[in-house]
Amino acid sequence: MSNDLMQKVISLCKRRGFVFQSSEIYGGLRSAYDYGPLGIELKRNIMNAWWRDMVHSREDVVGLDASIIMHPRVWEASGHLAGFSDPLVDCLVCKERFRADQAPQVAAGEAVTLRFADKGRAKVALTVVNEQVGVELQRRGKELHGAIAGDRGYVCAVCNSPFLSEERQFNLMFRSSLGAVDPMGALASAIESGEFEGLTGGDLRAKMDAYTKESAVYLRPETAQAMFVQFQNVQQSTAIKVPFGIAQMGKSFRNEITVEHFIFRSCEFEQMEMEFFCEPGTDDEWMDYWKSNRMAWWRKFANNPESFRLRPHEPEELAHYAKGCYDIEYLFPWGWGELEGVANRTDYDLQKHAKYSGAKLEYFDPQQQKKFVPYVIEPAAGATRGVLTYLLDAYHEEEVSTAKGTDTRVVLRLHPELAPIKVAVMPLVKKNNMPEKARAVVEAFLARGISAKYDEQHAIGKRYRRHDEVGTPWCLTIDGETLNDDTITIRDRDTMAQRRIDIDAAVTEIEGLLRA
Ligand code: GAP
Repeated sequence: MSNDLMQKVISLCKRRGFVFQSSEIYGGLRSAYDYGPLGIELKRNIMNAWWRDMVHSREDVVGLDASIIMHPRVWEASGHLAGFSDPLVDCLVCKERFRADQAPQVAAGEAVTLRFADKGRAKVALTVVNEQVGVELQRRGKELHGAIAGDRGYVCAVCNSPFLSEERQFNLMFRSSLGAVDPMGALASAIESGEFEGLTGGDLRAKMDAYTKESAVYLRPETAQAMFVQFQNVQQSTAIKVPFGIAQMGKSFRNEITVEHFIFRSCEFEQMEMEFFCEPGTDDEWMDYWKSNRMAWWRKFANNPESFRLRPHEPEELAHYAKGCYDIEYLFPWGWGELEGVANRTDYDLQKHAKYSGAKLEYFDPQQQKKFVPYVIEPAAGATRGVLTYLLDAYHEEEVSTAKGTDTRVVLRLHPELAPIKVAVMPLVKKNNMPEKARAVVEAFLARGISAKYDEQHAIGKRYRRHDEVGTPWCLTIDGETLNDDTITIRDRDTMAQRRIDIDAAVTEIEGLLRA
């Protein structure tokens, strides 16, 4: 059923206008998708629900809508820029990715001591070196002894390990250039004048990079950094007191090496992130709060809450600056996959930006009369991944009896708040003033800002099925009785039960159901 389910959802997405392959008539673009008329509504409804619950219904979180293109120094400070022009290496032990040319130099054959933040991490590292690298070391407290530097001439910039991956060029960020003058012109002239003659490999690349570097800008790979960079402006302009959060949602871009599972991992996607600034020492409590809060939020809109789980990161998965991290995962057809990460990022990002910019990114607590650099708890969710999750969670097939035997009914059991169309209004036949009455009902809904659709195409049963398939929670039908007593039928998508209500009460009835 599982892969089958994915194929059925992908097919429904195209057929009914949720998600299309980008530039399809030109053969499509790898891993790029367009959200169609129903898809954009579903995505917006998820994001609006997030904004309402994270910002509008709280006093301690404010919003931000930052530029997608930021100053290139932001990405230097955050570590994202490393790897564009310089080869990067992954430490096989602590997983840190670092620039080979800035790593501590150690001569081949020299003894090195691996160092970790605490004994727990040292124990985990000992197992990793033993099982994954096949080398026996000895642990003394927070240190591992007995390693010998290889002929690379350097060790891990964080833990000192000589157990490293190959050097590789990572281009996670999309690069562009800011300014009207195309740097390629200057580059072409330099090539023509023979400036690059005799240069090869890294030297050639570094020289070419120098021509594009001045104007180089990057599409943000996460929304988070703007919240750190604007911490001071937001705090001072609003006079909000720590603990408080800054929330942002919007597009992020990553040149992913592997793109997979439809919109699960794409190069352009949307995130919903919040950085919650708190006093060091209170961070564990806030971590507990946010991981439960976020888990409850995803489950609130789900048909199958048991398909969501909270998974603590194993010590070896943690970034070296993170004190703790939990992934909120969904049981996708191919297995558990990340939907949101809730991380304790400590004061790492504020300290980094303070160092690179020279700005003092501190907070003065007037009550305690003391300054500190806040710690940060970050719930970082994927909005486009949320679209896929709720489509999979809602997709349902059932056998129903018809006049001719049985048939398969496809129902998208989307939570009414997420459903793209809230109500469909249908005249039973296209005569006897029924279409006019139905249109008047649609207008009444639209005037209240409730998404409603008029539908008169095909037999009524077919129309119901069409709306079941796109998740419309309620259908209203104008029929012969309406003409006598001004009542209409209201049909429930999930139970298919029908009852009559006054036509004048239609809007208040649906408003009540939406609030329920
Ligand atoms: N600021 C932290 C951060 O960006 P992340 O785990 O890299 O953390 C957060 O991203 C969320 O963004 C993920 O849990 C996932 O839902 C979503 N996401 C990340 N990369 C994605 C991609 N290539 N395609 C779709 N969604 C993605």
